[in-house]
Amino acid sequence: MPMYSDKVMDHFRNPHNYGKIDKPDGVGKVGNMICGDVMYLYIKVKDGKIADVKFETFGCASAIATSSVVTDLAKNKTLTKALKIGNNDVVEALDGLPPIKVHCSLLAADALKEAIYDYMKKNKKSIPAELEKHHQRLEKEMKELEKKHGISD
Ligand code: FES
Repeated sequence: MPMYSDKVMDHFRNPHNYGKIDKPDGVGKVGNMICGDVMYLYIKVKDGKIADVKFETFGCASAIATSSVVTDLAKNKTLTKALKIGNNDVVEALDGLPPIKVHCSLLAADALKEAIYDYMKKNKKSIPAELEKHHQRLEKEMKELEKKHGISD
């Protein structure tokens, strides 16, 4: 088993913000091309800030810990600031991840971006070009994953 930091173990054993939000303003669903694991992230937006955020994942211990940390990092942030949360921030907040598990941190950061994208799209907000590009890539990967692993809603 890879060596995990105390923070990873803590978030894995007691994940923060686990579950589903009733009537979310945005939902992000992403799959990991390396392992096939899937993650859902739900957000509630109030006054341009992430008022609530929750996640569900069918991923590994690192996926659970990274999602838990992403929800902590995103809560109460403006959408603009939340969009800047990257996998490096996630790995850093967990005092590192074993190299073989770094791909898991992508799942959480990507799910957050997708949830914000979904919110912006539904509310006809102008979507930053970089976010649109990111979404196109993730959507393509999700379709490939669905074909490969038979994942669906
Ligand atoms: Fe799949 Fe970690 S092994 S998310």
